Amino acid sequence: MVKYEPNATAIIGGAWGDEGKGKVASRKAKEADLVIRATGGANAGHTVVFEGKKLALHLVPGGIVYPQTTCLIGQGVVIDLNVLLKEIKQLEGLGIPRVRERLKISGRAHVVFPFHKDLDELYEIMKDNPVGTTKKGIGPAYADKDNRIGIRMYDLLLNLDELEKKIEQETRIHNILFMNIGISYIKSSSELVHEFHSFGIVFKDMIVNADHLVDEFTRKEKNIVVEGAQAYRLDKDFGDYPNVTSSNCVTDGALIGAHLNHKDLKETIVVLKAYFSRVGNGPFPTEQPAHIQDDKVTEYSDEEAYNGDIIRKYGHEFGATTKRPRRTGWFDCVLVRSSKRALGPDFLCINHLDTLGKIGKDVGFIQLCVAYDYQGVRIDYYPDDMELTHEVPKPIYHWFRGGWDIPSSLRNYEDLPEQAKKYIETIEIQTGIPVKYIGVGPDNEDLIVREDIE
Ligand code: GDP
Ligand code: IMO
Ligand code: MG
Repeated sequence: MVKYEPNATAIIGGAWGDEGKGKVASRKAKEADLVIRATGGANAGHTVVFEGKKLALHLVPGGIVYPQTTCLIGQGVVIDLNVLLKEIKQLEGLGIPRVRERLKISGRAHVVFPFHKDLDELYEIMKDNPVGTTKKGIGPAYADKDNRIGIRMYDLLLNLDELEKKIEQETRIHNILFMNIGISYIKSSSELVHEFHSFGIVFKDMIVNADHLVDEFTRKEKNIVVEGAQAYRLDKDFGDYPNVTSSNCVTDGALIGAHLNHKDLKETIVVLKAYFSRVGNGPFPTEQPAHIQDDKVTEYSDEEAYNGDIIRKYGHEFGATTKRPRRTGWFDCVLVRSSKRALGPDFLCINHLDTLGKIGKDVGFIQLCVAYDYQGVRIDYYPDDMELTHEVPKPIYHWFRGGWDIPSSLRNYEDLPEQAKKYIETIEIQTGIPVKYIGVGPDNEDLIVREDIE
C-alpha cells in the first residue's frame, strides 16, 4: 500500500462557538487546495473579511474567497438549499471567481426542509426547558438522518416520482405524529417535490462522490483545511447536553463530516476568544452579569453597564446567524484543559486579544479562570453532573490589572504589551497547550503566527 503524508489541518471551536473559526480557516485556506465544511448547517455563522467587507457565511467554506481552492460541503452537513443558493449568489455578486465550479457538495449530505425549521420551533415551544436553538431545523434534520428517512443531495437528482415517494415518506411520518394534536402540519409532498427537484437541477454539477474527490487530494498530498462549525461544549456527546447542537462537532466528528480519517490529520488548531461567549441556554461558569439577558433588551446607560455589557460592547457580541445578544464572560482555562480529551489540540488560536485589552481598560481589570469551586471543593476539570447537583461551578480567578492597546497591524509576538504576553503565557501554563496563533483584528491577516512554536 502506498503511504502518503497526512495533510489536513482541522480548525475546531474550543468553547460554545463564534470563536473566529471562519477567519482562521479562511486564513489557512490561503495556502490550501481543498477546504471542507464538516458539520452543522445554517446554524453556523462564520465571519470572513473579504476586501474590507464582512461576509457572514453559513454554509460555504470561507476558503472560497481564495480562487485556487476547491471547497466542499461534506457529508456531515445538513443543507438549507435556499440559504446556500443565496450565499452562492452573494459571493458571485462580489466578483469571487468560479464559485459554482469550485464549490462541491457531497451527495451524502442531508437536506433541511422548511418543515424541519417549523418542527425545530415547535419542539422548542413544547420543551420544559428550551435549548435556545437557532431554529434553522438542525435537530429535526439530523433526527431524520438518524431515523433513515432523510433526503440526501443525491436524492434531488432522482426523477420526480422517485423523489416524491421519498419526500412523501418523510412528511407522512411527521404528519402521523402531528395528527395526535389535530393538525396536518407539513405542506404536501407534491408541493415540496417540484421545489426540491428544481434545486436538484440547480446543484446537479456541484453534487459529487466526495470520498473520491477527497481521495484525489490526499493521495497527491495537497493541503486540506477542515472548517469545523459549532464547538466542544455544543457537541452532542461531549457538550452540555441537552443544551447542545445535534452533531458531533469535536475533531473526530469533523473528520467524519469531512470524509477524512485520523491518518489524514496533520494538525488540530483549537480556536478560542480571549474572553468567552455563549448563545442559547446552558451552563457558563465564567459568565458576567449583563443587562441584556435571554433576549430581553433593557435600556441602560454606560455608567450602569455591567462587565457582561462591556464585553459584549467591545466584542460586538451579537449572533451572526440569529442576531441574538450573546452571553459573555471571562476566559476559562478549566474548560479548555478539559477539552483536550475531546479535541486533541496541537495548538490554540486565541482571537480578540485586541478586544480584551479594550475591555480590561474599561472594566479596570481582566480575570482568567484557573480552577473551580464546586460542591465546596477546588477542582481543575469541567464537571458533567451539574444537572444532578443543581450547581454551576464558581470560578477561581487569576487577576490582571487594566488592559492594553494592540494595533491590528501588529504581527510580531515580542511586540505585544507585556501584560498581554503574560496573559497568553498564563493560558499556556494553565492549559498545557501552546498558543501558536493570536488574533489582533477581524481581518484574515490580523493574526500573529508564532513560527518558533512547532
Ligand atoms: P465563528 O463562528 O467561529 O467563525 O466566529 P464568528 O464569525 O461567529 O464570530 C467571530 C467574530 O469575531 C466575527 O465578527 C469576527 O469578525 C471577529 N473576530 C475574529 N477574530 C478577531 C480578532 O482577533 N479581533 C477582533 N477584533 N475581531 C475578531
Ligand atoms: P458557529 O459555527 C454559536 C447553539 C445555539 C443553541 C444550540 C443548539 O458559528 O460557531 P441548534 O440550532 O444547533 O440546534 O442550536 O447550539 N449554536 C451555536 N452557537 N455558534 C454556532 O455556530 C452555533 N451553532 C449552534 O445557539 O444554543
Ligand atoms: Mg459563528
